[in-house]
Amino acid sequence: MGRYVITAGPTREHLDPVRFLTNPSTGKMGFAVARAAAERGHDVALIAGPVALKTPKGVRRIDVTSARDMLAAVEDAIGDGDCVFVATAAVADWRPASCADRKLKKGLMSDTIKLVRNPDILKGVKCRHKIGFAAETNDVMSEAARKCREKGLAMIVANDVTEKGAGFGTDTNRVTFLKADGSVERLPLMSKLAVARRIVRFAEGLA
Ligand code: CTP
Repeated sequence: MGRYVITAGPTREHLDPVRFLTNPSTGKMGFAVARAAAERGHDVALIAGPVALKTPKGVRRIDVTSARDMLAAVEDAIGDGDCVFVATAAVADWRPASCADRKLKKGLMSDTIKLVRNPDILKGVKCRHKIGFAAETNDVMSEAARKCREKGLAMIVANDVTEKGAGFGTDTNRVTFLKADGSVERLPLMSKLAVARRIVRFAEGLA
C-alpha cells in the first residue's frame, strides 16, 4: 500500500491574535481525497487548515493555521519523499509582514498592511509523485498546464470556480485532469468523493 500526504482547507495569516487574511475554502475536496485513499487501504496524513469537518476514518490528521505551519507539517509527513502528495489546500499566497502578539488598536493602525510572499508548498517539496489543483476563473486550461509544468506534477486537477456546482463549499465539482504526458480527461459534474476516488485510482497507477 502507498503513503499519501494531503493538504486541505484554507490557511490563516494573522495580523494580530484576532485578525487574519484567509479565503473561503472549506476543505471538502481534500477531506474527500483523504477518505478515498484511506478506503483503499493507504497510509494517509491529512494536513488541514482551519475547517469544520470530521476526520475521515483511518486518517491521521494534523491541524495547522498558517502557510508556514502547513509547509513544516507537510515536510515532516513527506519524510523520505517516497509518497504521493496531493495538494488541495487554498494556501494564502501572502501574509502580513509582521504579526502583533496583542490586539492592534485601530486608532494606532495605518491604512495599509505590508505583505510578504508565502512559500509555494507544492512547488517546493520533493516527493515521488505530486498532484495539484488549479481553481481558476479564466484561461483555465492554459493556467493549469503552466502550473503542472512549473510545479513538476504528475497531474493537475483543473476547475473553473465560476461554474455552477464547482468550487468553494459545494459537494460537487466539475474538473478536468491534465496529466504530465499532456493527456486531458474531462469529467462530468460529480460528487467531490467521486472525483477523489478517480484521483486515487490515477495515483495508484503511477510507477
Ligand atoms: N499551492 C501550494 N502553496 C502555495 C500556493 C499554492 O501548495 N503557496 C498549491 C495548491 O494547493 C494547488 C496548486 O498549488 O494545488 C495551485 O494553487 P493556485 O493557488 O491555483 O496557484 P498559484 O501557484 O498560487 O498560482 P496563481 O496565483 O498564479 O494562480
